[in-house]
Amino acid sequence: MCGIVGYIGANNAVPTLFEGLQRLEYRGYDSAGVAICGRNGMKIHKQAGRVADLVATAPKRLRGTVGIGHTRWATHGEATTVNAHPHTSGSVAIVHNGVIENAGELRAGVLANVAFATDTDSEVLAHLIAAQDGAALEDAVRAALLMVEGAYGVAVIDQRQPDRIVVARNGSPVLLGVGNGEHFVASDAAALVRYTDQVVYLDDRELAVIHADGFRTFTLDAATTTKQPVTAALTADMTGTSGHDDFMHKEIWEQPEAVHSALRGRVDHRFSTAHLGGIDLVPKDVLTLRRIKVLGCGSAYYAGMVGAQLIEELTRIPADAEAASEFRYRKPVIEADTLYVAVSQSGETYDTLAAVEEIKRKGGRVIGVVNTPGSTISRACESGVYLHAGPEISVASTKTFTSTVVVFALLALYLGRIRDMGPADGARLIGALDTLPGQIAAVLDEESRMIDVAHGLAAAADLFYIGRVRSYHVALEGAQKMKEITYLHAEAYPAAELKHGPLALIGAGTPTVVLAPDDELWDKNMASIAEIQARKGPVVVVTDCRRPVSGAERILVPATEPELQPVLLGVVLQLLAYHVARILGRDIDRPRNLAKSVTVE
Ligand code: G6P
Repeated sequence: MCGIVGYIGANNAVPTLFEGLQRLEYRGYDSAGVAICGRNGMKIHKQAGRVADLVATAPKRLRGTVGIGHTRWATHGEATTVNAHPHTSGSVAIVHNGVIENAGELRAGVLANVAFATDTDSEVLAHLIAAQDGAALEDAVRAALLMVEGAYGVAVIDQRQPDRIVVARNGSPVLLGVGNGEHFVASDAAALVRYTDQVVYLDDRELAVIHADGFRTFTLDAATTTKQPVTAALTADMTGTSGHDDFMHKEIWEQPEAVHSALRGRVDHRFSTAHLGGIDLVPKDVLTLRRIKVLGCGSAYYAGMVGAQLIEELTRIPADAEAASEFRYRKPVIEADTLYVAVSQSGETYDTLAAVEEIKRKGGRVIGVVNTPGSTISRACESGVYLHAGPEISVASTKTFTSTVVVFALLALYLGRIRDMGPADGARLIGALDTLPGQIAAVLDEESRMIDVAHGLAAAADLFYIGRVRSYHVALEGAQKMKEITYLHAEAYPAAELKHGPLALIGAGTPTVVLAPDDELWDKNMASIAEIQARKGPVVVVTDCRRPVSGAERILVPATEPELQPVLLGVVLQLLAYHVARILGRDIDRPRNLAKSVTVE
C-alpha cells in the first residue's frame, strides 16, 4: 500500500527518491509524487500511474538537497494526479500513509475557510501544519497531529526551513535511515537498501526531526526519546529478480531455501521436538492451553487454516483460524487459556494488528508468526516466530505461505511433544520436514507440466477448486492465487459441498482443480470427480497417487506425511496461477487494485 521516502543531505535528493519509490512499488499504488526543496524554493511533481511515468515526466531541472516522495494507493478520492501526494499548504508539503478519520470534521470546523485542492483526507494535515504559522516545523507538526484522529505515517518539509524533515508515526510505519552526512526516511527498509542498513524504527505517537547530520526523536507530548539505529537485514541483492522474469517466479523458486531457513536451528532430532527461541511459552503454560486461535488476512489467513488443522491433528488442542477483520468486529470472547496466533508476512496488515491490540486489551496471550523483522505486528506481539523467508516483493504471496505452514508444523511439534505426541510421531514429522525442501524442488522441476495444464485453464472464465479437510484450505489459497494475478473467477469449495450449489455451474467450459492426496479420502474425491465429469466438466487432479484417473489431467507430486501434503499441492497451484497469468499477459507482480501490504482498514 502507500509508500514514503525522504532524503536530506549534500546530494541531489531526486535520484534517491525515485529509486526509493521504485523499490516501494511492490506494495501496490496507483499514483506517485515528490516534493523537492532546492535553490529556487519548493517544487512539486506528481503523476497518476507508475513511478516510471513520474520519472519520465520529471522536469530536467528538478533538483534539491531535501525532498519527500510517495506512492499512493487510493482510499479517499480517485487515483488522479491531483489527489497524488505530496499535498501542500503555503510553504509546507506532506506525504501521508494511513487514514485521518476526523478529516470531514476538521474540513467543516477549524479548516472551514480553507480552499481544498484535493478530495483526500491527507490534505487536511498539510493545512493544519501550515496554520501553525511561525513555529519550528517539528512543533507545527506535533500541534497538528494532536488535532487528528486516525492512523498516520507522515513526512513533512517546509521551504522556509529547508534544513529539516519532520516525520511521525501512529499505526503506519516510518523509519529513518542513518547515513554519513545524510539521512533518509522510508515506510519500509527496502526503499533504502542501496544507501544504508542502519535504521531507526519510530514507535506509535513518536516524531523525529531529521537534519543532514543528525536527528532527534520525541513523543506527541514533547517528551524526548532515545533511539539507537539497528541493522536492517536486507541487501540490494535480496530485492532484485536474480535472473527471473518477475518477483513471483523468483519467490516460487526460492521455496526450498525458504523452508530450509524456517527450519534452521529449530529442529531437535535428539528429542524429536522443536526449539522456538522467540516464543515465551514454557511447558507449564502449554499444559494449561485449551484452544488455539489463528488470525490473519488473505494468504496469511489461508496458511493459518492449514496451520490450525496441523496443530489440532498433531497436538489434539482444538484449533481454528479466522479472518482477523471479522474477529475483531464480532465481539470475540477472549479466553485466558487460549493461545492467539497472529500471522502476517508484512507484519503491517492493519486488520491483523487491530486484532492483536484487541486481544491484548482484553488480557489475552498473542504470539506472532511474521516474516518482516521489526515490523509493527512483530513488536506488538509478546513473542513470536519469524519465517526468515527473506523479502517477498510480489503482491501474491508464495514462499511466505509455504514458510508459514512450515512454522506451524514446528509449533505443532513443540506443543505436541509437551502434550500427547510421542517421540515416534515427532520423528515422523521431522523426517518429513527434513525432506520437504528437496520435494518442493522436485515439484518446481515439473514446471513444464504446469505450463501445459495452464494452457487448458487460461481459456476458462470460471474455475473451481475443491479439496477435503487439509486440501480444502490449500484449494482456497489456490483459487485466491488464480483470482489475484489472472483476474479469472476462481472459487474454492469443500469437495462435498459441490453438490449443494456450485454443481449447477459445472459444464464443459468450467474446469475444476481437484486436490486429491492419496489418503483416507481418496475414494470420496474420486466420487466428486465422477459428479463433475457426469456434467462434462474438465478436471485437473493434483495428487501424490499414481493410480490413473480416467478422463482427467493429472499432476503428480511427491508423497510426504499427510499433514505436510498441503505444502506440495500448494506449490503446484502457485505455478498454475502463475502460468495462466503469463499466458494472459497480466502484470504478475502488481495485480490491479491490490496492495502487498494493506495498512488501512
Ligand atoms: C494483502 C496481500 C495478500 C496478503 C494479505 C495479508 O491482501 O495482497 O497477498 O496475503 O495482504 O498480508 P500479510 O502481510 O498480513 O501477510
